[in-house]
Amino acid sequence: MQQTEPYSLIGKQLSALLEGSNHWLTNSSQMSAFIFQQIKELNWVGFYWLNPSKERLELGSFQGNPACNPIPLGKGVCGTCAITQETQRIDDVTCLDNHIACDPNSRSELVLPVIQNNVFYGVLDIDSPKPKRFNADDQAGIALLLEQFCQKTDLTPISALF
Ligand code: SME
Repeated sequence: MQQTEPYSLIGKQLSALLEGSNHWLTNSSQMSAFIFQQIKELNWVGFYWLNPSKERLELGSFQGNPACNPIPLGKGVCGTCAITQETQRIDDVTCLDNHIACDPNSRSELVLPVIQNNVFYGVLDIDSPKPKRFNADDQAGIALLLEQFCQKTDLTPISALF
């Protein structure tokens, strides 16, 4: 069985990494690169941001192959997360009807809502080529990393973008 990632150590490293800035672009770029580097067996990590008229998600900072853009609300795992504002943990995306296959290598996905002061700004999408890559510990650990990111970052300018 795969070992759980050392999320508490990763959280301390993230805190040091985000120390110097509260800018959404700087921190979201650092965050996606950091998760991609620190967590094993991933092929894509990145943010999609809600456009001001709340019709679609627009691609933000990411690591991995060029990705689908934009994503209509309700479409795919990211669009479902945006509608429900709940984390989506999918063991095998090939079993979903409503999946956007940006990269046919992606098999499992963890998509978390990015919420600050009760405002939904977008999603953090984490993909793996391995089916069932994410368990409940990964979901909880990554949720804590995202909470840290939200506490340290001013997301308000995103509402006026795209
Ligand atoms: N697979 C995602 C789309 C985004 S990419 O994988 C980068 C989805 O179904 O939401």
